[in-house]
Amino acid sequence: LKHLLTVEALTDQEVMGLIQRAQQFKQGARWTPNKNQYFVSNLFFENSTRTHKSFEVAEKKLGLDVIDFDAKTSSVQKGETLYDTVLTMSALGVDVAVIRHGDENYYDELIQSKTIQCSIVNGGDGSGQHPTQCLLDLMTIYQEFGHFNGLKVAIAGDITHSRVAKSNMQMLKRLGAEVFFSGPEEWYDESFDVYGTYRPLNELVPEVDVMMLLRVQHERHDGQESFSKEEYHEKYGLTIERGKQLKPSAIIMHPAPVNRDVEIADSLVESLQSRIVPQMTNGVYIRMAILEAVLRGKS
Ligand code: CP
Repeated sequence: LKHLLTVEALTDQEVMGLIQRAQQFKQGARWTPNKNQYFVSNLFFENSTRTHKSFEVAEKKLGLDVIDFDAKTSSVQKGETLYDTVLTMSALGVDVAVIRHGDENYYDELIQSKTIQCSIVNGGDGSGQHPTQCLLDLMTIYQEFGHFNGLKVAIAGDITHSRVAKSNMQMLKRLGAEVFFSGPEEWYDESFDVYGTYRPLNELVPEVDVMMLLRVQHERHDGQESFSKEEYHEKYGLTIERGKQLKPSAIIMHPAPVNRDVEIADSLVESLQSRIVPQMTNGVYIRMAILEAVLRGKS
C-alpha cells in the first residue's frame, strides 16, 4: 500500500490480508524493522484517544521511531497549513503520517503533491471516512463469525455525521453482509439506501447478528438537537429491554467513545455480548498490519 485513505480503495483480498496479518500479530507474530529505518508521526488535528494511542502502541510494538507532534504546540498555531505541516514532516524524513483532520478529503492535496514523499494513513476525515476503524470492526466481526456473507448487521444512530458508518456500510455490503440502518430520520440520508435498508430499531434488534451503535456526535450538530439524552435512549438506544431481545449469538459493537445511557445502556457496554473492549484491543493489531503494509510498500 502507498497510502490508506478510504476503504473503497482496498480490494477484498487486501482487506482479508490485513485482517489475517492483524490476527497473526495478536497471536505474537513479529515484524521488526531496523532502528532508525522508519519514522512515523501521528498528526491529530481533532481529538482522539483510541485511534491516536492505538497507533502509538502499534508503532512502538513494531519498533518504529515515532516523531511526536502536538498541533497545539506546533507551528499550526502560527497559521501553518496542513499541507505545509506534512511537507515539513516529509522533508524531515517521516515515512508515514497518520492524520486525523476535520476536513473531508483533506488528503487530496497531499497525495497530489510531487514534493510530499511520505505515505498518508487516514485516521479520520471529518464526517468522511474512518478506514482504520472499519478494518478493526471487520476484524472483530470476522473473529466472531469467521465470515461476512449473509450476516445481518444493523448500524444505528447518528449515521449522517459518522465516518465510521460510511466506511463500514460500504465494506460490509461489498463483503456480502446484509446491512440495515436505524436511528433518527433526520440523521439518515437516502444516499445510504444503496448499502442497506432503513428499519425501526425494535424490528431489527431480534433479527441481527451484529448490533452496531454509533456515538451521537454532539460536536457536529451546531447545538441543534431535537431530543434530550433520555428521549434518545428510549427511542433509538440499545436499552436494557432491547438488549434482552438480541439473539444469544448476536454481538454489540460501538466505535467509542460511548455516551453511556444514550446510545447504549451503561450496563450493556461491558456485558457478555458486547465486543466494545475487544474492538479497542483489535485496533492495535490492525494498525500494526496497516503500518507494516504501508512501510513494506516503500522498500
Ligand atoms: N473510535 C475512535 O475513533 O475513537 P477516538 O476518537 O478516541 O480515536
